[in-house]
Amino acid sequence: MRPRRLRESAALRRLVSETRLDPADLVLPIFVREGSSEPIPISSMPGVVQHSLDSVKGAVADAAAAGVGGVMLFGVPEVRDAEGSGATDPEGILNVATRIVREEAGDALVVQTDLCLDEFTDHGHCGVLDPLGRVDNDATLGRYREMALVQAASGSQLLGLSGMMDGQVAAVREALDDAGFAHTAILAYSAKYASAFYGPFRDAVESTLEGDRRTYQLDPGNRREGLREAMIDIEEGADIVMVKPAGSYLDVLADVSAASDIPVWAYQVSGEYAMIEAAAMHGWIDRRRAVIESVRGIRRAGADAVLTYWATELAGWIRKGEAA
Ligand code: PBG
Repeated sequence: MRPRRLRESAALRRLVSETRLDPADLVLPIFVREGSSEPIPISSMPGVVQHSLDSVKGAVADAAAAGVGGVMLFGVPEVRDAEGSGATDPEGILNVATRIVREEAGDALVVQTDLCLDEFTDHGHCGVLDPLGRVDNDATLGRYREMALVQAASGSQLLGLSGMMDGQVAAVREALDDAGFAHTAILAYSAKYASAFYGPFRDAVESTLEGDRRTYQLDPGNRREGLREAMIDIEEGADIVMVKPAGSYLDVLADVSAASDIPVWAYQVSGEYAMIEAAAMHGWIDRRRAVIESVRGIRRAGADAVLTYWATELAGWIRKGEAA
């Protein structure tokens, strides 16, 4: 047996490659900040900015020109309160940004929105709190229903349910269907783990969290439970399920991919981005090779598409044939 035969030349290696990257399978997460006229750099995510309502148009145009499959929008509001009112205000930053981006994007890529309260609440939790300060699952579902309708009306084509409340997919699906948005799709962040790798995201959305998210996000030690969450979301009517973070959860991704009959995506999160950027800045790692390998590994494990902050740049490398 000589497996090395197929590694003899670049052309042979390319011909037998099992996992190719395609710009169409990449989704770019984008932050849009209320009240700023210029893009603002995010210190813990070098190369990523909080966009203004003006600069976001250029970012979307660049992503579309590079062939990126979609954008996922996050709003950074100026004012926050206990209920996250900005999330359901049609004039709230995320909803305004969605209308602008949809107009800019046309049908060139899929416009998606984060459906969660943490960017909009003053306590930083993904839901509303009960009088004892616990995240109130069923009261939060009511808020998600309202968010879904405003986001769909603003032109979001795929709602990213990232709050990890029980029953959120069923609740949002019902609200959408009842309001005439049967065509609006749901991306369920099904297996979302309580991860340290979301650290830089807090800077990106300027959110401070009281306590932690462990009563609703998954315990990083639990593999079976990740699969169970995905199966529940499929049952409830999700159109796409997701595993998040990606790199440290490739086993869960492989499990969900094997069991799912709908698309399975993965989110390469802020901390995964920051780690490679930081090591590359020190000259400790080859930046481009590490980026490509990290995303290819996520695809190889079973992700049909990947949310990654490198989407536009990586799409450019792919198109130039530099990402094998
Ligand atoms: C929730 C949400 C978070 C991320 C995406 N959606 C934050 C969290 O759950 O703590 C994290 C993404 C990243 O770290 O890149 N709105």
